[in-house]
Amino acid sequence: MRRAWVLFLGVVALAACRKDPGLPQGNPTSAYKPTAVDPKEIFPSKFGMPALPADNPFTEEGIYLGRMLFYDPILSIDSSVSCASCHRQEYAFAEPAALSTGVFGLKAHRNAPSLFNMAYSRKFFWDARQNTLRELVFEPIQAHNEMAMTLPLLLKKLQASSLYRDAFNKAFQTEPNLIDMAKALEQFTLSLVSQNSRFNDFFPGKFSLLSEEEKRGAVLYNSLVDFDKITGETLGADCFHCHGGALAQQQNPNMGGIANNGLDAGITDKGYGAITGNVNDLGNFKTPSLLNIALTAPYMHDGRFQTLEEVIDHYSDGIHYENPTISPMLSAHGNRQMNLSAQQKSDLVAFLKTMTDSAFISNPAYSSPF
Ligand code: HEC
Ligand code: HEC
Repeated sequence: MRRAWVLFLGVVALAACRKDPGLPQGNPTSAYKPTAVDPKEIFPSKFGMPALPADNPFTEEGIYLGRMLFYDPILSIDSSVSCASCHRQEYAFAEPAALSTGVFGLKAHRNAPSLFNMAYSRKFFWDARQNTLRELVFEPIQAHNEMAMTLPLLLKKLQASSLYRDAFNKAFQTEPNLIDMAKALEQFTLSLVSQNSRFNDFFPGKFSLLSEEEKRGAVLYNSLVDFDKITGETLGADCFHCHGGALAQQQNPNMGGIANNGLDAGITDKGYGAITGNVNDLGNFKTPSLLNIALTAPYMHDGRFQTLEEVIDHYSDGIHYENPTISPMLSAHGNRQMNLSAQQKSDLVAFLKTMTDSAFISNPAYSSPF
């Protein structure tokens, strides 16, 4: 038994120092030249060019390595969970569970958000606690209820893999290492762009592309909350202040980019307030993009709503105006519930459904490389 161990260790040691002529050795002088990718090929002009990390230019090999890592359960302690276990392409990289399941069946604390157009975000996670994707990736990798991995073990696993030795060499001309691992994941996640929904063709005003009910929904979505003086009918539902623009997401934290949309009477999850320590930020959360929203149920940071109809019911007559940090954008109209009619609710849902980008969820460039 003991002898078998010694033999085994010997083989591992031998394998580690053997020079394999078939594989690039990953030294910095290697001749491999990665293929640069022009960001203009990734980001459509209708969205504008986002600010990108200057020290991590896109290359085909860098994006590909990130894609391998994203789909590889090798990143979790028992090789059972990959990023893609919780962020599934068919659901716009969200998943149809209120709370995700990590290793050993443990539950994540919040709902897994969709992933796309992240180059246009400056804050990440529901509580906006991360500023870069490069740093963010170390959280799920190490969280005990997500991938529960240790960094030394991960490094060892990557270095022991000829697949990754080759891929790191091609992308960065290095041996596998954690900094370049994070940069590759950054490249891949930044490269996920959703731009082909009917909403994106319509935006900002090609009404001829919409059906009658979608048009009515678009008007409600993009009009300020107001009530007819005589009939009392609601004339606008004001979604655009927080979910506006071509990305259907407000980017400015002070303008509804991070807000409390009145889900509860009091503070339950402290959200952004736990990060800033400011009482005014308690119960505030990053405002998600509504692109692909019909694909990403259940909704909100805790996955409390199962359907878009339930979400609309919340905004129509369920807003908790008594919540101490409710967004001034919602309480601006005298704390009066909108009480949308059944027709208005279904018009809004029809408009939200124009935001689905089926080319995005079937784009082979974003799918598993394995
Ligand atoms: C066990 C499920 C699970 C795994 C595995 C997982 N995530 Fe997540 N992810 C989540 C949850 C839940 C959140 C929201 C957490 C929060 O906001 O507190 C999240 C949030 C994110 C966000 C923030 C998105 C935004 O718009 O703010 C990014 C980016 C992300 N994950 C990328 C990754 C990457 C890359 C990996 C692999 C290294 C990964 N995730 C692995 C569940 C998971
Ligand atoms: C004051 C800003 C604000 C306004 C106005 C607003 N929202 Fe939101 N919305 C948010 C925030 C913040 C969240 C995330 C809240 C959370 O999870 O705690 C959210 C979440 C959502 C979600 C769930 C997203 C997901 O990925 O789970 C949907 C759907 C949604 N809003 C639709 C709408 C619609 C439709 C309107 C107009 C009737 C609207 N919102 C108006 C701020 C706003």
